[in-house]
Amino acid sequence: MAYDLIVIGSGPGGYVCAIRAAQLGLKTAVVEKDKTFGGTCLNVGCIPSKALLHASELFEEAGHVFAKMGIGVGTPKLDLPAMMKFKDEGVDGNVKGVAFLFKKNKVDSFQGTGRVAAAGKVEVKGADGKTQVLETKNIVIATGSDVARLRGITIDEKRVVSSTGALTLDKVPQKLLVVGAGVIGLELGSVWRRLGAEVTVVEFLDRILPGMDSEVCRQFQRILEKQGVTFKLAAKVTAIDTSGNRLKASVEPAAGGAAETIEADVALVAIGRVPFTDGLGLKEAGVALDNRNRVQVDAHFATNVKGIYAIGDVIAGPMLAHKAEDEGVAVAEILAGQAGHVNYDVIPNVVYTYPEIASVGKSEEELKAAGVAYNTGKFPFTANGRAKVNLQTEGFVKILADAKTDRVLGVHIVGPDAGNMIAEAAVAMEFGAAAEDIARTCHAHPTLTEAVKEAALAVGKRAIHI
Ligand code: FAD
Ligand code: NAI
Repeated sequence: MAYDLIVIGSGPGGYVCAIRAAQLGLKTAVVEKDKTFGGTCLNVGCIPSKALLHASELFEEAGHVFAKMGIGVGTPKLDLPAMMKFKDEGVDGNVKGVAFLFKKNKVDSFQGTGRVAAAGKVEVKGADGKTQVLETKNIVIATGSDVARLRGITIDEKRVVSSTGALTLDKVPQKLLVVGAGVIGLELGSVWRRLGAEVTVVEFLDRILPGMDSEVCRQFQRILEKQGVTFKLAAKVTAIDTSGNRLKASVEPAAGGAAETIEADVALVAIGRVPFTDGLGLKEAGVALDNRNRVQVDAHFATNVKGIYAIGDVIAGPMLAHKAEDEGVAVAEILAGQAGHVNYDVIPNVVYTYPEIASVGKSEEELKAAGVAYNTGKFPFTANGRAKVNLQTEGFVKILADAKTDRVLGVHIVGPDAGNMIAEAAVAMEFGAAAEDIARTCHAHPTLTEAVKEAALAVGKRAIHI
């Protein structure tokens, strides 16, 4: 029996695509090489990292903030195996949820490595080595991404780890060296710092979180330094000697110069991710890749080969679960004859540290580079009643609005719960809101979201509480 659609990969791109296609009446199957569904995000990415961030944040609060609120718990004791079990159970619940949704929506699933044998044909090789060929009208490649490696440095996932190993360490390292001050380095660096590790982050560039608004990042770096994280910017790790009891990393200035040695118990390599297309047979099938080995697609997610599409981390764009999901929905709708679309100008970006960093739309640097005149409205959490009473006053909300039309072009938040608050900004931008629209919308008191309203008022220089 031929399928209408076979999706290769069951991450947030692939599984959401399959469910939406099935909802629209397409006979759909998913091929997944791993034992569980959900891809990087559910198994070794978003979900386990957020479980550890949540637990370690509460551990930190119990140790440092509870007493200030009159809650006496003594010095909290870490039970790392129990914390890991909590994380694993969270992952288990989520991956089982995907299996449930496949059944509910009558999506067939095949466990094995998928290969594009030709347009309309997917070969599935099971763990037992047996292969079967499935026939389909359309194929969506949703094979995601893999850890980027540093030349000459072997990741053993015990002492030299990627994010995957950093999510399963069996003891808290006394000293953790993080290579890369991107999202993974700062999130997982935060987890282990809170649990007791001394954390040094080495970053190639002269700033953290490249691509995000630099004012936000400057303030955030200061906050992390206050929390005890050490940064070595404009520096690169060139080698890690694993022969002794402790790792010895050679660190050089990015521009070249004398190397120094940093000792550590564990090194986390978090220098980005690369598209994953191994064993997919794309070359043989004639599917074009771009200059960064991503599957090349047009505005409708179609590759150069008829009937083969691609979405998620394996194509261009931010490597984010919600971007992959929205592309999954869009391509399913296109295949069903509808007008699926993703608005790449309004994709929120959240770093789940404490405080959180969240942004949507353009940064100040991007607006300046594009020559767009804009007004800025800024409001600090020190002036927000709820943040004050909760002892969570670090950070601010910044709204960038077009100087002529007042249309919101970018919103940047450093602060508690920034990841939830950014949704309001995304909805406003999706509806083409002006800062005035946010400023005139009644926000519940006392909430942190009042800082968003005040920042919008500040665009017109009329914030009330500052
Ligand atoms: P993936 O989730 O990578 O899924 C691809 C799937 O395809 C995998 O299951 C793989 O086994 C399967 N596959 C590959 N090749 C084949 C084949 N030939 N045959 C069969 N199956 C195959 N993003 C966020 O938005 N928020 C976060 O908080 C966040 N946290 C993260 C934390 C970490 C530690 C990491 C590593 C990533 C995080 N991300 C986060 C990024 C997010 O995980 C990815 O953007 C997202 O998973 C991409 O989805 P995808 O469907 O494109 O690919
Ligand atoms: P990243 O691209 O966010 O950061 C990598 C950092 O490493 C950059 O700052 C880069 O300049 C630096 N770097 C590169 N080479 C280096 C070298 N040789 N020495 C020192 N520094 C070097 O990549 P990261 O953190 O690995 O995350 C991968 C992807 O996963 C990201 O693209 C992100 O989108 C996604 N992700 C998203 C999360 C979220 O949304 N909260 C959480 C975790 C990951």
